[in-house]
Amino acid sequence: MNYEPMLIGKKILIGITGSIAAYKSILVVRLLVKAGADVKVVMTPAARDFVSPLVLSTLSRNKVIIEMAEGDEWSNHVMLGRWADVFLVAPLSCNTLAKMAHGLCDNILLAVYLSATCPVVVAPAMDEDMWQHPATQKNISALAEFGNHIISVRKGELGSGLFGEGRMAEPEEIVNYLVEHFFRAATLKGKKAIVTAGPTYEAIDPVRFIGNHSSGKMGFALAEALYLQGADVLLITGPTHESIPYEGLRVQRVVSAAEMFSAADTAFADADIIVMCAAVADFRPVEVAKEKIKKKTATLELSLTKTGDILKHLGSRKKKGQYLAGFALETENAEANAREKLSAKNADCIILNSLQDKAAGFGVDTNQVTIFDRSGTVLSLGLQSKKEIAKEIVSFIVSRIHE
Ligand code: CTP
Repeated sequence: MNYEPMLIGKKILIGITGSIAAYKSILVVRLLVKAGADVKVVMTPAARDFVSPLVLSTLSRNKVIIEMAEGDEWSNHVMLGRWADVFLVAPLSCNTLAKMAHGLCDNILLAVYLSATCPVVVAPAMDEDMWQHPATQKNISALAEFGNHIISVRKGELGSGLFGEGRMAEPEEIVNYLVEHFFRAATLKGKKAIVTAGPTYEAIDPVRFIGNHSSGKMGFALAEALYLQGADVLLITGPTHESIPYEGLRVQRVVSAAEMFSAADTAFADADIIVMCAAVADFRPVEVAKEKIKKKTATLELSLTKTGDILKHLGSRKKKGQYLAGFALETENAEANAREKLSAKNADCIILNSLQDKAAGFGVDTNQVTIFDRSGTVLSLGLQSKKEIAKEIVSFIVSRIHE
């Protein structure tokens, strides 16, 4: 994920403690710096056994602070805690957790913690038995009561070689957490958005269905882009393998076109922005066989009937102040068909998917689209990642609703 410009100029202080998971903090520093953040690192003396300060100072482009004083120079812990927008302790060892819970101050990291005026986020890492010990659980509850944010431990392989609870969240998950909780833009704050994504499956019998190749990637990228601009997002998706890395972004999973219709129809009334990216099946079997259809006959005829057109239905319900965007997938007369859909479905814009390029469309991570809107604007977005395309589509929508 590319978080720019959300992290440009953001000041993040990372505290590293003595835990095997400290190797992952190297990647956390790298991801944050790449995303434009100013990063400083403070370590406990024990952390030095697990990760080299040289690596961290090189990646963070700042001197790593380990001692309360070096020579005749005092490390100003109060200023560090005031400098940062967020203080992230990752990994948080069992020992440092206990000290934080009880207000001990025998190293620079603890001094920074006690004097920090910015939000504090911790990502614990330890063996399962240590994690589950009542003392540890009491300590973690104490941190939560102090108002600190806790990135929950994951289940998986542990430093001891055992498998269980206590693994630190992955670097990307930690960065996503910071972005979601502290650095989302406010451009669409207070706005409600609905995005539909993925294919729909229309049952033929209990084991078969009519579907299509949509992966859901474009719709998921749009939901994320709207969410990162501050919108309250509901993603209504058909069956896909995609997942959303943000806990505040609501996802409603549906299977058929009828289910997607009803989910979108219910959420529509108080939505400000609606982006219909799903590849909804246009037809469904008239009847769904109760039992698996046996191959007794040489041919099989399926009778199909049209599904409800969700975009058209919402277009007919649209009120002033609601912005409705649809997609179009065309193999011939693309532009004329896209314009025709714009008026037939009463949409505010239609985003035409290009099928000219193998790198655009179903399943792949890149896309190329052209946006047509009611004022006659035509905006072509060249081949780039679906995440980038999603950001540009959201910028376009923002420019239209703020007109
Ligand atoms: N759409 C919808 N409900 C349907 C079919 C399509 O909401 N039952 C929406 C899609 O999500 C997309 C837009 O309509 O935003 C256009 O979809 P597309 O498949 O290109 O066109 P159709 O309207 O299905 O028309 P045709 O297949 O004849 O081109």
